[in-house]
Amino acid sequence: MRHSRLNCAHLHCSWLLFIAVFMLCFGVIVSTTNDSDRLALLAFKAEITSDPFERLNSWNDSTDFCQWYGVTCGHRHHKVTVLDLHSQGLSGSISLHIGNLSFLRELRLQNNSFRLEIPPQIGQLRRLQMLYLSNNSLTGEIPKNISACSNLVFLLLEYNQLVGGIPLELGSLSNLQTIDFTANQLTGSIPSSMGNLTSLEAISCYQNCLSGIIPQSLGRLTKLKTLILGSNGLSGTIPPTIFNLSLLIEIDIKANQIGGGLPEEIGFTLPNLQDLSIGYNQLAGSIPLSISNATNLRRLDLGGNELSGKVPSLANLRNLWFVTLFTNNLGSGGSNVDDMSFLCSLTNSAKLMVLVMHENRLGGTLPACIGNFSATFVALRLGQNLISGEIPKEIGNLVNLEAFRMDDNLLSGPIP
Ligand SMILES: *[C@@H]1O[C@H](CO)[C@@H](O)[C@H](O)[C@H]1NC(C)=O
Ligand SMILES: *[C@@H]1O[C@H](CO)[C@@H](O)[C@H](O)[C@H]1NC(C)=O
Ligand SMILES: *[C@@H]1O[C@H](CO)[C@@H](O)[C@H](O)[C@H]1NC(C)=O
Ligand SMILES: *[C@@H]1O[C@H](CO)[C@@H](O)[C@H](O)[C@H]1NC(C)=O
Ligand SMILES: *[C@@H]1O[C@H](CO)[C@@H](O)[C@H](O)[C@H]1NC(C)=O
Ligand SMILES: *[C@@H]1O[C@H](CO)[C@@H](O)[C@H](O)[C@H]1NC(C)=O
Ligand SMILES: *[C@@H]1O[C@H](CO)[C@@H](O)[C@H](O)[C@H]1NC(C)=O
Ligand SMILES: *[C@@H]1O[C@H](CO)[C@@H](O)[C@H](O)[C@H]1NC(C)=O
Ligand SMILES: *[C@@H]1O[C@H](CO)[C@@H](O)[C@H](O)[C@H]1NC(C)=O
Repeated sequence: MRHSRLNCAHLHCSWLLFIAVFMLCFGVIVSTTNDSDRLALLAFKAEITSDPFERLNSWNDSTDFCQWYGVTCGHRHHKVTVLDLHSQGLSGSISLHIGNLSFLRELRLQNNSFRLEIPPQIGQLRRLQMLYLSNNSLTGEIPKNISACSNLVFLLLEYNQLVGGIPLELGSLSNLQTIDFTANQLTGSIPSSMGNLTSLEAISCYQNCLSGIIPQSLGRLTKLKTLILGSNGLSGTIPPTIFNLSLLIEIDIKANQIGGGLPEEIGFTLPNLQDLSIGYNQLAGSIPLSISNATNLRRLDLGGNELSGKVPSLANLRNLWFVTLFTNNLGSGGSNVDDMSFLCSLTNSAKLMVLVMHENRLGGTLPACIGNFSATFVALRLGQNLISGEIPKEIGNLVNLEAFRMDDNLLSGPIP
């Protein structure tokens, strides 16, 4: 009897205990999950030294943190999914406690004045898809730990003062579509692991201090549309496989020390190309005839190289507006040569504005067809060539021509 009563009391007790423990645990779980995001946001706020629009005044205990300025929470969980404080004139550093916002998908802090380093704790944000830190004053290296953000799609770090190399660990971010490291001070070579980023559509490392070669592995990036590596110290040649990436729209490798030539079939393998900018390098050989088959081309910027031979017809390039071929060895120099016929092929380009071809070996005479250039045309530079004969009076048709230079040629006759 006694025994069973005890048993019963015991049972009753443990049931109450169970409920109590359950409620306690549940309460603690709810409050810690809630609280960890709130505490992380407050820790983030604590490192903001200037907030000119007083956005973070709303970050106080009178409202739930999901209502705070720039904070978005998920529907199901009471967790921060987006932190968007871009263009708010904020100064300070990015708190390492940002790594505690475990449900964060988008971190948008671009166009502020954040200083110091990107905290490696960002690597704890396994759900992060967008990391926008562009146009701040961030220093130090790109943390290797970002490679743990396996869902990352956009990694935008342009216009900061980041140093060191591009971490080869980034090659594991198989969902990355856009990388922008423009205008930092990154050094070292482009890691060949970048060729593993098979979702990549755009990579820009413009204006850094990168050296070494362009890795062959980039030729595996079959979704690539934009390849911008201009203003660095890259050498070697452009890997031939890159000219097979048929979705490419923009190639900008300007101002490096790239040698080699352009492949004969470029206009067929890159049918979507709009911008080919490889000026200020050491490209040799001739401009491929097939360039005229890249019918979407708008910019052709090959000035400051060692290109030679005849300039091919550009007749099919109806969207072309900007052509620079200055400071090369183009043309054959004689007076009875056909160096100038490509000019007449440009009369189809209804948007043409700029043609800069000074410092070459162009011979022959200036054809009258230049009078049929588009009315949009503003600048023609043909100085320092071997052009003879007279300047055709049809040049007077070009009503918007502002800059016309023919100095240092072999011209005769009056200037119309
Ligand atoms: C963030 O998480 C770490 C590790 O769990 C913890 O030590 C730290 O106190 C947390 N930060 C905040 C502001 O709660
Ligand atoms: C706290 O935030 C609310 C808006 O959420 C704001 O109206 C109030 O002024 C804030 N309090 C302080 C002391 O800044
Ligand atoms: C950058 O932020 C400033 C305010 O600090 C703003 O005036 C400017 O329009 C922003 N730029 C962009 C591109 O959003
Ligand atoms: C970058 O930030 C500075 C100051 O914060 C601002 O003046 C400038 O307009 C920004 N540039 C861009 C491209 O947003
Ligand atoms: C960075 O990643 C390493 C290796 O995954 C890890 O051990 C370390 O804790 C991470 N650091 C931070 C600050 O998250
Ligand atoms: C990534 O790239 C490197 C260098 O190109 C290669 O050695 C490695 O096997 C690749 N890893 C994966 C997972 O594809
Ligand atoms: C480019 O692609 C074509 C057709 O798929 C192939 O025959 C050629 O070998 C490729 N060239 C390079 C350099 O990869
Ligand atoms: C390529 O361009 C040339 C010169 O403009 C033209 O004659 C030829 O038909 C084009 N080829 C193709 C396949 O479009
Ligand atoms: C310029 O175009 C007009 C009209 O299409 C044509 O009659 C003329 O022959 C062309 N002039 C030259 C020099 O090509």
